[in-house]
Parts: sequence; C-alpha cells; structure tokens
Amino acid sequence: MKYIKLIFFLLAIQVTAQQGGMWIPSLLEGMNESEMQNLGSQLTAKDIYDVNNSSLKDAIGHFNGGCTSEVISPKGLLLTNHHCGFSQIQSHSSLENDYLKDGFWAMSLEEEIPNEGLYVEFIVRIEDVTTQMLEGVIETMTPREKQSQIDLNRNKVIKSVDKEDWHGVKIRPFYKGNQYYLFVTERFEDVRLVGAPPSSIGKFGSDTDNWVWPRHTGDFSIFRIYADKNNRPAKYSKDNVPYKPKHYLPISLDGIEEGDFTMVFGFPGRTNEYLPAVAVEQITQKVNPSNIAIREAALKVIDANMKADDQIRIQYASKQARIANAWKKWIGENLGIEKSGAVAIKRKFESEFTKALKAQGKTDIYGNLLSDFDQLYAEFEAVNVKRNNFVEVFIRTNELMQMMFRLTQMENAANSGEASFEKARASMINRLKGIHKNYSVKVDRGVFNSVMPLYTDTVDESIYDKTAFTTLEGALALLEGDMKTVISNLNNDAAYTYAKPMVLDFYTNLEPDFQRLNTKINALLTTYMKALMDVMPEERYFPDANSTLRVTYGKVNGYAPRDAVYYNPVTYLDGVIEKYVPGDYEFDVPQKLRDLYDAKDYGQYADSNGKLPICFLGTNHTTGGNSGSPAIDAQGNLIGLNFDRVWEGTMSDIYYDPEICRNIMVDLRYVLFIVDKYAGASRLIDEMTLVHPKK
Ligand code: ARG
Ligand code: GLU
Repeated sequence: MKYIKLIFFLLAIQVTAQQGGMWIPSLLEGMNESEMQNLGSQLTAKDIYDVNNSSLKDAIGHFNGGCTSEVISPKGLLLTNHHCGFSQIQSHSSLENDYLKDGFWAMSLEEEIPNEGLYVEFIVRIEDVTTQMLEGVIETMTPREKQSQIDLNRNKVIKSVDKEDWHGVKIRPFYKGNQYYLFVTERFEDVRLVGAPPSSIGKFGSDTDNWVWPRHTGDFSIFRIYADKNNRPAKYSKDNVPYKPKHYLPISLDGIEEGDFTMVFGFPGRTNEYLPAVAVEQITQKVNPSNIAIREAALKVIDANMKADDQIRIQYASKQARIANAWKKWIGENLGIEKSGAVAIKRKFESEFTKALKAQGKTDIYGNLLSDFDQLYAEFEAVNVKRNNFVEVFIRTNELMQMMFRLTQMENAANSGEASFEKARASMINRLKGIHKNYSVKVDRGVFNSVMPLYTDTVDESIYDKTAFTTLEGALALLEGDMKTVISNLNNDAAYTYAKPMVLDFYTNLEPDFQRLNTKINALLTTYMKALMDVMPEERYFPDANSTLRVTYGKVNGYAPRDAVYYNPVTYLDGVIEKYVPGDYEFDVPQKLRDLYDAKDYGQYADSNGKLPICFLGTNHTTGGNSGSPAIDAQGNLIGLNFDRVWEGTMSDIYYDPEICRNIMVDLRYVLFIVDKYAGASRLIDEMTLVHPKK
C-alpha cells in the first residue's frame, strides 16, 4: 500500500513538473515530445511543426499582431475570439445594423465583409540564427556596442535569407538575448468578417466574469482569408478567392473530460518568468498598486457615467474594457503572487543558485548577479514607478493629457523643420479625429480630477474651460495655419501650457533615467539567464513569451482555489441560465438561446450527459496574445478556443504554479451549436471536417 502511494506521489510530481512553459515549435523533438506523450498526446514533433510537409503550425495565424486565430476549413475559414474581432465587428455596426448587439452572420460568400487594415500572418519556417546574430559580440563591449553589432548582423542575416519574394522575415531575441530565431512569414491582408454572436453570448458576463471561473462566455468570431488566383497573399480585391490552406484543423465532436491531454498553439505576447525576487517584489508592492490606483480612479468616473447615460456607454465601451482588463489582472496577479509565496520561493531558488555558482567556481565568470540586482532595482524603483504612472495618466486614462503628450511631440518635430512638422501635424489630426469620435468632456474632466492628483501636486481643472482641445472643431482650428502660428497658438493654450512642463520633464529626466537603468537591468538579466542555464542545466527552461509562435501543453483539470472548494473544469448552458438577469448589460441571455435551452435542442453538440458544454479549463501556460488560440486534442483535432485565465492564476506571467494556474477555453461544441442551431449558418458547418476520435 505504501509503495503504491509512493508511486502515485512520484507520478503526480512528475506530471506536475512537466507542465508550464511556452515552447518553440521547431524544437519540440526530445523533451517536449516525450512530455506531451506522457500526458496522453499521440502527436509527434513533426505533426506539430514540419518544414517539408504540412503540419499543425500551418493552420495557426497571428491575428492582426495581437491575437491568435486558426484555419478550420479547406476554404480559409478562420476562428478567433469575439474580443479579438471586436473592433472589426464594431466598425461595421450602426444603430440600424448593430452587429455588436445582435450578432452578424454572412449567409453567402458575397455577404462576407472586408476589413481594412486587418491581417493574418502564418509562420513558414523558424531558424536558429544565434551564431550569426552574436558574431563579433564580445563580453568587453558595452550594452550599446553589443546592440549595434547585433543590428549590423541582423541586416546581414535578413539580406541572405532564402525565401519567396512575398514572404516576410523577422528576427527575435530569446532567453534574454542569449539566443536568436528567425521567422519567415506569410501575411494575408484580405480577411473578411463571416460571423459573430451577439455580445450577450460573445461577451456574456463582461467585466464581472472577466478573469474568473466558472465562466460561460461564447467568446468567438469567424473570419475568412482570401487570396489571389494563385492562392497567394493579396490586398483586398473582389476577384480574390477563399484561401486554400496548407492545413486546417478538423474539429472533434467528442469533447473532453478531466485528465485529457490538451495543447494550445499560438502567439503569447509577453511574460517575465525569470525575474529575480527583488523585481517581483517591486512589481507587486510598488508598480502594480500605483497603476491599479490610477485605473481605479479613472474607472470609477467612467463606470458611473456609462451607467447614467446610454450614449456614453456606447462611446466608452471599448476604452472601459481596455482599462478594466489590465486593472483587474494586476489585482489578481498581486493576490496570486502573495498566496503562492512566489517571492520566498524565488529567494530560496536564488540562494541555491548562488551556492551552485560558487561550488562550480563560476562566480568570476558571471559576477555577483543577485546583489547587483538588489542594487539596481533599489535605484530603479522610484523611476520605474513614476514612469509607469506617467504612462497611465498621459497615455492610458486621461484623454486630454494624451492629446497634450502627442502635441508636445508635434512641437518637437517642428524643431527639425517644416517637413517633419507637416508629417507630425497630419498624424496629429488623425489622432485627434480618432479621440474625438468617442469623446465626452464631462467624463474626461472627471477622469482628470481623479487621476491627476495621483501624479502631481498641481491639479488645475480650469484648463478644461479654456483649452481648444475639448472639441474637434477647436482642436483642428488651432492646428490650422503655418508652422510658426500653430506652435505659437499651441503655447498659448491652457491645457498645453499646463501639461508641457510635465511632458518635458518626462523626456529630459524620467525617460533617460529609466532607459539607462533598464538597459543595465536587461544586460544583467541576459547574464543571469545564461548563468542559470549553465549552472543549473537540469532545470526546464523555456523562453519568455515575445509574440512569436509557441506551444504549451497540459491537461484538462479543475482546481482548488481555497480550502474545501474544488472547481470542476467544465461549465454547461445550465450555468448561463443560472446567471441570466433579464435586460442586464452583462448577464442578459437572448430569447432564442433560452428557447433552445428549454427544448434541450442541442443536436450533435450535447455532451454524453445530455448537457450543452460551454467552457473548460486546462493547465496550459498561456498569456495575453493567446486569445483565439486553438486548444488541440491528443490527435491534432480542435476541441477548444482559448480566451482567458482564472483569477487565482493570473500571476502566471511572473510565476507559473501548476496547482492553481489554469487557462479558460470555449468548448468547440458550443461554438458549433451557436453557428448551427442559434444562427442557422449551416453552410459554415458543411465546410468543416467534424470528427469522432473517441468513438
Ligand atoms: N481577460 C481576457 C484577456 O485578457 C479577456 C478580455 C476580453 N473580455 C472582457 N470582458 N474585457 O484579454
Ligand atoms: N484574454 C487574453 C488575450 O486577449 C488571453 C488571456 C490571457 O491573458 O491569458 O490575449
């Protein structure tokens, strides 16, 4: 009995140890492949990434640079999140055709809507170019000298790449600049909107449920990639035809159960898994709290105004969502770091590392890394916090200050002459038009009053009565005339004279200080990463996310957020109905969906228990940018659509704890149910390949 317990214990440890990490798809052979297979995968590394044959990676597209999407039919049908397609859906919406509110379904190819500026990018090939990129870079160089050598090398490498002329190339640093990888890319620019559920499905639960489990959101939208007659990328043209992909994902109708293997394939944006404890302390104790306070002050004003006035609700919907999303995440991140004891765990690890460094006689090579970090971060703290606050106030929350920040840049451009001024003026005018499209002076003034005291002692609200920039007409009128007149008028504007000294202080003091210290910290992180991998080679090192294609894997798994509570990994339509609040802006449920629920009319999409699955959880290590990523089963079929993480695990960008970190996915059967039964868009279902891998 004891033996069996021990074996179970060891197995459990092993499986836990095999989770977490975002891996480079071209390097899965060996450790990752066998870890995945231990978790139940039947895929080989080559099934996932292959240069010579089609593989899963050919179905995965970077959606507009910020989200992930996947091809799900031989005719270029593309799946991503509702919140990833949000601005496209919004841009085609009007009071008469409110696609945000009511949803949109193209019932034929002709009805699919083009989207200016939207693109989807695939990875053709990944190459390790570390040796070429670090050629001539020597230890005795300053960080700046190293960087200019690297930039020279980059140009050389890019020039010599073997590729088709329509392909793109990019090179990104990995492992804090100890390795470099090159990506040959193929970018499609004719991407049309095919379908979106109403927000009461696609954004069900809104901010209240954001970052939270149990979740019941159908966060998906559908697009289609079009190509020219030769199946190559092309700008929009009515002559373009649906793209024939190298690979598309079949969709499993058999669903998942706890313990099943899952893999998430996508473009995670940014993580910081190798920070020293002192940095994590600074983020959680200084940076996050002050950022949270500023956003909270702004949200209080915005939320109250949105509740009181329908027009403001529409105007500020997307801004509010953006501000609230990170605000809520930081709160969760702080709680998670605290609860998991991440700082203490990191400290303990650091002392083991320092011991090993000494024991191996490598202190001379790498120096006193951790005490150097302590010193640098102590010096960095005030600058780091202040710079964050500046960004929050002047870029993220207050719109008048954002205009002033950009206008200061325009005045600066004027110092380089007429030509650069004209360029800056044109882009300023565009920016002002963008801001004023959805601007309320009342809201912004309220935001100013609540956030400004968190940045400076001199708060002068009266600028709102005097400045020209609270209306688009006033702003555009001030920007008319020759360069001299504009600059002189600008320097007589009340908001401008108020903000300019703070912006100049940012450029002359804050930013240079920040960059100087940040460069030093990054150089130290490069050395630290190298030392870690050298001194403790047995650890599992994955490169931090950097918006490049990655694979993360795990299994379907619930979790215990606190004593005596266990969360099941699957939610059902019954839970949507439980949350239903008639007419509520977050929890309303469309009549048709309630009817389908009452009739239990789920077709082939029901679970084996007769219920309709909505969302499920996995131990996949994901971050922002993984939105829209496919969750793939043991055989390479699509089973879920990633869109969020659980509240207790949002700290995984800094510290991944397999006990508590979970990603949230929409069950593909819910997606298909909505497309088929709710929207009646069966032509889309007919294009897809539906499979039964478990039967
Ligand atoms: N928290 C998810 C992410 O980080 C979803 C955001 C969109 N949903 C929302 N309710 N704002 O992007
Ligand atoms: N919602 C996030 C996004 O838009 C993904 C969830 C996360 O941050 O884990 O990319």
